[in-house]
Amino acid sequence: MDAVFEATVTAPVNIAVIKYWGKRDAALILPTNSSLSVTLSQDHLRTRTSIRASPAFVTDRLWLNGEEEAVSASKRLVNAITTARSLRAELERRQRQQQQGNVVPLSEWPLHICSENNFPTAAGLASSASGYAALVSALGALFELPQSASELSRVARVGSGSACRSMFGGFVAWQAGAADDGSDSLAVQVAGHQHWPELQALILVVSDQKKKISSTTGMQTTVETSELFAERVRTVVPKRMAAMQRAIADRDFASFAKITMQDSNQFHAVCLDTYPPIAYMNDASRSIADLVHAFNTALGRPAAAYTYDAGPNAVIYALEGDMRDLVELVTYCFPRPEDTTPEAFYPDPFGLLAS
Ligand code: PMV
Repeated sequence: MDAVFEATVTAPVNIAVIKYWGKRDAALILPTNSSLSVTLSQDHLRTRTSIRASPAFVTDRLWLNGEEEAVSASKRLVNAITTARSLRAELERRQRQQQQGNVVPLSEWPLHICSENNFPTAAGLASSASGYAALVSALGALFELPQSASELSRVARVGSGSACRSMFGGFVAWQAGAADDGSDSLAVQVAGHQHWPELQALILVVSDQKKKISSTTGMQTTVETSELFAERVRTVVPKRMAAMQRAIADRDFASFAKITMQDSNQFHAVCLDTYPPIAYMNDASRSIADLVHAFNTALGRPAAAYTYDAGPNAVIYALEGDMRDLVELVTYCFPRPEDTTPEAFYPDPFGLLAS
């Protein structure tokens, strides 16, 4: 029987509080600015990926949420697999040099990759982040790579930029780096989840449709056309990265909340300043942002903070002690259609529904 080696891992979703938007090198996925995110719990949003390697397989194959997709159709997927394979080949070469017994030539065997998300794919819920982080972690485990999580984050980065941050839990910075070869553009953990366990995230799915303009196309157009963008990269983000790291170190929710909302707002402002303009938020997203500000005003302190990625869905951060009130308020103001009667959802001014 032919040998089969297998590894299975899960990887979480991360939601940026200082946004990555813009590439200085599109092929290597090198960002124009550093970014910082919070990794969410794997109980709710995660990718699980299993990879098998065998000399009996004919070619690399991929199943995404049960459907087969051509590996060759995604250049980034091919790049990530090729980079991980070359790290494995290097390891095998070293093992051979040191004459370490039986070296398994995993780098030469085709792979079968099976990946599934427990949430809607490509709906602005960072599925590519957990997807590529899971792929690279599974390859790292299968190939027994000696590289650290930060070093492997460079491989995840070539799949999807924000994926490098999902290689860690807790609070994670993606350092933009300065080198042309991307060697210093990697993720580092700023603090573990246990540093601030009271911080919670509420996800409001406004739409589970695939986004209209991909982040790749959107950020490219922004870099080329937005004048506000240059200012954001040059002066705003460096200041905010430092202030956000201080807020996290001090568990200072008021500062964390203000910077998170300001940075989300500036990211969407820069999208609107792109030509032709990009609008990822919709009326429901804007109403949610208004509600968060009303909640904070009513409590007389910043108790909740929204952030939006390249889509209309909201992520709201709040401390455990305030989350219950926030959820009650949100479900009162935005009842789900299945939880409510048509009368409650669409007020019936002409009494048409009453009979
Ligand atoms: O990694 P990408 O190409 O999916 O880009 C993600 C960009 C944002 O989600 C909007 C911001 C971020 O930092 O995650």
